Amino acid sequence: MAGSKWLIYGANGYTGALVVEEALKRGHRPVIAGRSEKKIKPVAERTGLDFVIADTNDAASLKNALTGVDLVFNAAGPFIHTSDPVIRACLECGVHYTDITGEVPVFHNTFSHDKEAMQKGIVLMSGIGFDVIPTDCLAKYVAERVSRASELEIAFAGLTETSPGTTKTMIEMIPNGGLVRKNGELVRSQLGKGAKKIEFTAGTYSVMPIPWGDLETAYHTTGIPNITTYISYPGYIISIFNAGAPLAQKLLSVKAVQQFAKKFVDMFIHGPDAEKRSKGRSYIWVQARDIKGKEAHAWLEIPDTYRFTAVASVTAIEKILELRPKGALTPAMAFGADFVLGIEGVKRYDKLPGRHDKQ
Ligand SMILES: NC(=O)c1ccc[n+]([C@@H]2O[C@H](COP(=O)([O-])OP(=O)(O)OC[C@H]3O[C@@H](n4cnc5c(N)ncnc54)[C@H](OP(=O)(O)O)[C@@H]3O)[C@@H](O)[C@H]2O)c1
Repeated sequence: MAGSKWLIYGANGYTGALVVEEALKRGHRPVIAGRSEKKIKPVAERTGLDFVIADTNDAASLKNALTGVDLVFNAAGPFIHTSDPVIRACLECGVHYTDITGEVPVFHNTFSHDKEAMQKGIVLMSGIGFDVIPTDCLAKYVAERVSRASELEIAFAGLTETSPGTTKTMIEMIPNGGLVRKNGELVRSQLGKGAKKIEFTAGTYSVMPIPWGDLETAYHTTGIPNITTYISYPGYIISIFNAGAPLAQKLLSVKAVQQFAKKFVDMFIHGPDAEKRSKGRSYIWVQARDIKGKEAHAWLEIPDTYRFTAVASVTAIEKILELRPKGALTPAMAFGADFVLGIEGVKRYDKLPGRHDKQ
């Protein structure tokens, strides 16, 4: 790892800036990059890091930015617009690729480049943040406790406030509706349908299915053919979703409405501040079951999702630069189910706390 050079693309964004901060704290000197000199230069001046400007619509500028670089961390989302061009540049230049997407089609695209990545001797690892390190690692842990599991459920709670980029990504995803994995295939479902209650380590929460990155990653990590991913919402929000999702989907399919919604985000959504990031906790539950009803489950508690993303991303980057895995991999495929336990503030439980089985 010593002497490795890596680059953060989208370093001026909310999450990119958190990753820059965490990298500096650990003694890294990443190159910072983005599409706007006006926004990137001040970050370079503040941190003393080298910078480079590259646009995802300009392959030559991306290739130029990757000269002499070992690994790219892409923080520029929605990733549906940025991931593929950066992956292609990485494949061309033989540079490891990572990002923090949660978008199912983006994971699908990343896995489609597996063979080329193997040939080039690089890793393509999407989802090295809150989505999907904790859920992917817990999915592997639980799946290994049920041989030939046929069904996997993954749920998380405690995401209270979203960043600008996360909100914009959700706005882009809503028109596509819900998604679950059935018999190995991704199948459309209605947002707001399939709500239930799940006991997390912090208590019981109402959850509803949403299209989460694990529909791709957990399938690759565990091979389980039926997967549903859930997010917690107050019960009344689920009712609103039930009634309003089809209309919201229609409205947000209109480009002008999307653009207006994104402008609103730029003006009013700033993401959790440092105090909220330091105090927040998130909760994860995973259950695997076989066709005879044999099941296993486990829980995780982790820090606030954005704090977790910054720390986990830099931890995963250090691990990639040390181990140099190859191909399109999930975090748990590359580093194992216990990888998440090495990230500050994470606890795994085999039983709910109070039943004295904390690890
Ligand atoms: N996996 C996870 O757990 C996790 C955690 C946090 C965030 N995220 C995801 O990370 C993404 C960023 O979130 P954020 O809140 O940090 O966003 P943000 O503050 O809005 O910043 C977005 C960054 O991406 C750049 N960008 C956006 N579209 C681009 C394009 N087409 N080409 C080049 N650069 C582009 C922006 O550049 P300009 O400033 O020049 O527009 C900016 O640097 C979102 O998709 C979010 O969902 C995931």
